[in-house]
Amino acid sequence: MAALSQDGSHAPDVVVEPLDLTARVDEALAVQALAFGLTDDEIDIRRYIVLRHLQNPGARALGATTEEGKLVGFVYGMPNDRSHWWSTVVEPYLRRNGTDGWLDDSFVITELHVHPRFQGRGVGRELITTITDGCGLPRSILSAIDTESPARALYRRLGYQDLAGQVLFPSAPSPYVVMGAPLPLRRAN
Ligand SMILES: CC(C)(COP(=O)(O)OP(=O)(O)OC[C@H]1O[C@@H](n2cnc3c(N)ncnc32)[C@H](O)[C@@H]1OP(=O)(O)O)[C@@H](O)C(=O)NCCC(=O)NCCS
Repeated sequence: MAALSQDGSHAPDVVVEPLDLTARVDEALAVQALAFGLTDDEIDIRRYIVLRHLQNPGARALGATTEEGKLVGFVYGMPNDRSHWWSTVVEPYLRRNGTDGWLDDSFVITELHVHPRFQGRGVGRELITTITDGCGLPRSILSAIDTESPARALYRRLGYQDLAGQVLFPSAPSPYVVMGAPLPLRRAN
């Protein structure tokens, strides 16, 4: 469990700890809706997908919670399996670049979101470094929208490098980049 001191004397402390995401999926999706933007229909679809993901062996989730118990950030992921839908979509792009070895023995970060009011205080960094520290695998992979976003800046800072760009997921409007990093993730200087 890690307590994060924050800027601003009125901000409550935020604690990063294991999250029962099955029980708190609606709170997590409310955070994701604020951070990333989700319609009500997308929330319903995501709820089904998250609950299914959590049944995979090795799936883990961490939450960032205020002193009052309000969930303000979460991350979840699982060991990659080449038969998983996400892996089958990205595999041809990685194979073309000779980087598909990253799909083996790799922990996938499936979602990472921090409530907008709590962004920029190290919560995202703490969530992703803590979950990957405990995964027992030598590398981590993820996909992010293929644009220069805060998320991509965070991933680069932690040592993630581009493995393939312009990756198209069915029904997603924007192309994605797949990134990979050796574990443990790089620490801030
Ligand atoms: C991406 C996200 C999870 C980062 O969480 P966060 O708690 O705000 O990030 P942190 O405060 O831990 O920042 C860590 C590093 O990320 C980078 N970063 C964070 N916000 C940034 C911003 N607005 N611009 C540029 N870099 C940024 C910085 O490198 C920062 O390190 P530094 O402070 O040492 O420079 C958060 O911005 C978010 O929820 N965004 C919307 C949802 C999203 O895009 N999720 C990822 C889907 S792939």
